[in-house]
Parts: sequence; structure tokens; C-alpha cells
Amino acid sequence: MVSESTPRSFDVLILGGGSGGYAAALRASQLGLQVGLVEEAKVGGTCLHNGCIPTKALLHAAELADNAREGEKYGVNSTLEGIDMLKVNSYKQGVIDRLYRGLQGLVKSRKVTVIEGHGRLVGPDTVEVNGERYTGTNIVLATGSYARSLPGLEIGGRVITSDQALGMEWVPQRAIVLGGGVIGVEFASVWKSFGADVTIVEALPHLAPNEDEALSKGLERAFRKRGINFKLGARFQSVTQSDAGVVVTLEGGETLEADILLVAVGRGPRTADLGYEEQGIRVDRGFVLTDERLHTGVANIYAVGDIVPGLQLAHRGFGQGIFVAEEIAGLAPQAIVESNIPRVTYCDPEVASVGLTEAKAAEQYGADKIQALEYNLGGNGKSQILGTTGFVKLVRVVDGPVVGVHMLGARVGEQIGEAQLIVSWDAHPEDVAPLIHAHPTQNEALGEAHLALAGKPLHAHD
Ligand code: NAI
Repeated sequence: MVSESTPRSFDVLILGGGSGGYAAALRASQLGLQVGLVEEAKVGGTCLHNGCIPTKALLHAAELADNAREGEKYGVNSTLEGIDMLKVNSYKQGVIDRLYRGLQGLVKSRKVTVIEGHGRLVGPDTVEVNGERYTGTNIVLATGSYARSLPGLEIGGRVITSDQALGMEWVPQRAIVLGGGVIGVEFASVWKSFGADVTIVEALPHLAPNEDEALSKGLERAFRKRGINFKLGARFQSVTQSDAGVVVTLEGGETLEADILLVAVGRGPRTADLGYEEQGIRVDRGFVLTDERLHTGVANIYAVGDIVPGLQLAHRGFGQGIFVAEEIAGLAPQAIVESNIPRVTYCDPEVASVGLTEAKAAEQYGADKIQALEYNLGGNGKSQILGTTGFVKLVRVVDGPVVGVHMLGARVGEQIGEAQLIVSWDAHPEDVAPLIHAHPTQNEALGEAHLALAGKPLHAHD
């Protein structure tokens, strides 16, 4: 709402109130700057309303479904009677609503001016919203991303993206998931737990193809065991739909039938028709190019989050938002190291990693200068109690630091914090080995892996 009292000029004017934009806003106001935050939908963006939070709520419900189904294995006699999607959705929405109320309160208490409406950059320091102009001594572009499709593949009806999948009021009996990346494997995991027959179609040779190959292969083994079907090196050709379902044709002619096709082939940067290029900002395939300090090279304009090439992760957005606010305030923060940003995929089993894959480390340091070790969760008491399998894989430079940690198994995402400290602080396995890890925790597996890499394995075969 624009009222007479709404300020029109700010120290920092931010276009987009998602993870990147609101983090920049909160930190900038904390540093004493006057902040305007332009948002056309809801502050919190994709992560809170249409991404991380709702999917993880679905994944939690999926875990409960598996627990109910498998209780008997643990002597707890239970059966899964069914999934009530209306209740699942209201639980999910309840989580979002509570977090959204909290975020709105935070934004208000930090005295950030939220300008509601569609913003457009119309000058190097000016954004127009609903016909009104606002200026910022500094501008931060944080317009995020959208679920993209393939050329000729139209979204509608039974052909959906994660946007529609999150609002579905029924569980498909059969689902085809196009793309075995992060969104693809998470939804495949949810739907399988809810009782669907799922097939993933992935063009590259592996599921989760950006991860260390050992993780991809481990995930494939685990999915096979769960009965999740996947076709690797398979490319989509076309789809038809009717009242009865979808028929997907792959290159080569194979056809697959299902109730629904989820398109999860990546997210595109939301930068079109926002005036960026007109102001001289360099845009490559839709992404805004910046230097390592997230400056666009034009006036005092910065960019953060999914529109900047790299990992499209909410916490990277938070980190970049904080960085830019501190940069503007003159605090000269340390540049963010992209490979040290932790990555977690919340399917069952979870995939979590930080630092370099073995292949990347070999490329960077030379194959004979690195060493890799896998510690199997078979030796980890808590993992055995939970009934999960997987491993921790470490990659180190010979006589040097650990440069990559890669984990597979139920709940391993919660272990990524320590892994991140180890990699970011250039710890050697010999530094980590003497640190005592609590028993019995899954966290112990990280400690054991470092003991093994330091040459003194305890619960592992030499
Ligand atoms: P993605 O880039 O992770 O995966 C897309 C997959 O689709 C790739 O493996 C690609 O090879 C495949 N693909 C592309 N064209 C294809 C074709 N014609 N036929 C078959 N396969 C094809 O993108 P995704 O999963 O859509 O996720 C988008 C973004 O959202 C990612 O950058 C991800 O990091 C982020 N995200 C992160 C989550 C997390 O951190 N837990 C959860 C969900 C999304």
C-alpha cells in the first residue's frame, strides 16, 4: 500500500522479497540503513511459500507414512491406512503460515518498508512500482527463479511443475518425473512413500548428477531397493494427455503411461522484462552476471540469489543477501566460496555434500595428489538402529586438508554443519580425528571417517 507517508528514497532498495532479498533487507536495516523491499507476492518468496518449506513438510509426512508401513519390522504393529492429502496440505500450510507471520513481524520490527507490487528497474537507482517511482542509493536485484519447462512442453492439466505438485489434493497412482535432479528425486521419494508407482526420466547417466558419482550410485541403489523406477540417459520427446492420464514418449520411441507428469528440469532466472538489460546490466541466458562481490558493474546495483549463476539454494541467497548488505555498509565482508556452500537433498535416503567431488578435486589438485575414503554406515550404531544404509565419503588432499564431504543415508542432512566447518576451515583429518563424537549418533560416522582417513580406524575394517 502506498500512502503519503511511504518513503520514496532509501539507502538500499531491494527488488524481490525472497530468501536473498529479505536477508539483505534485514541485515541492511540492522546496520542502520533505510531499506525498501519491493515484493509482488509474499515476502519469503519461493523457499517459504512454494519451495523448501512445503516440500520438506511433504517429505516429513512421507517419512511418517513409511514408518507406519514398516512399524511391524520394529515390533510396532501398524499399517498405513491411507494418505489424506487435505490434512497433509493443511499441516504443510500451518507450517508456512507460522513462519510467514514470524517473518512479517521481523520485517516490521526492523523497520523495513515493504512496497507491494510488481517492480521494474527504470533507472540506475530507480524502481517503478504501480506507477510510483522509488530510488535507492544502492539497488539489490533479487527476483529469484521460476520452474522452467522444455521447448514445446506445455505445462497444464496433468503436466505440472513443482508449483502445482505442491498443491495437489490427491496422490497419483502412477507418476512420471522428468528430471532426476533435486526436485525430481524429492518428489519421487514423497510419492513413492505415499504409495505411488514412480518412474524418473533423467537425460544424464545418473540421478542427482551434480553430486559425487558415489552418491549418485548409492542413491540409485537405494531407490531401486525402494522400488522407485528410473531411466537414465533417457531423453524426453513428447507427451500427450487425456482424461485418463499422460503418455510420455522418450527419444527412441519408448512410451510410459501415468496419471501425471512432473516436469523438474531446472529453474530459470526471473529476469525478463524487468528493465535490467536496458540499464546496461549484463545478462547471460537470463542470469545476471556479477563480480565475486555480487556487483553488476552498473552504478550501485548488486544481484543476489537464483538470478546469479551458481547453486540455486535458499541459504546461498541468505548468505549473499547478508554479504551485499555488509558490502554496502562498508564492512568489506569476505567473498563467499561457492563450493563451501552445503547442499542437501531431502529424499529418502538423504544426500548431503559440501566442498569438491572426487572428480573435481582430481581436476583441481591432480589425481595422485588426492585421497578418498568411504565409511559405511553399516558400522554406525545409530544408523543401524534407524535401519538406514549409506556412507560418508571424504576427499582430502594428500597430507593436506579435507576438501570434500559427501554423505548418503537417512537424516544425514543434519550432519552437514560439521562437514561444512571441516571443509571451510581447511581441517586435516588428523585435526578432526581427536575430536570425540557422541555415541551413538549418526554424527559419529563423520568422526569415524576422519579417524580412518587419519590412519587409525576404530569401527572400520582396515
Ligand atoms: P536440477 O538442475 O537439479 O535437475 C534437473 C534435471 O533434469 C537434471 O538432472 C537434468 O539433466 C534433467 N533434464 C533436463 N532436461 C531433460 C530432458 N529433456 N530429459 C530428461 N532429463 C532432463 O533442477 P531441479 O531439480 O528442477 O531443481 C531446480 C533448482 O532448485 C535446483 O538448482 C536445486 O538446487 C533447487 N532445489 C534445491 C533443493 C534442495 O536444496 N533440497 C530442493 C529443490 C530444489
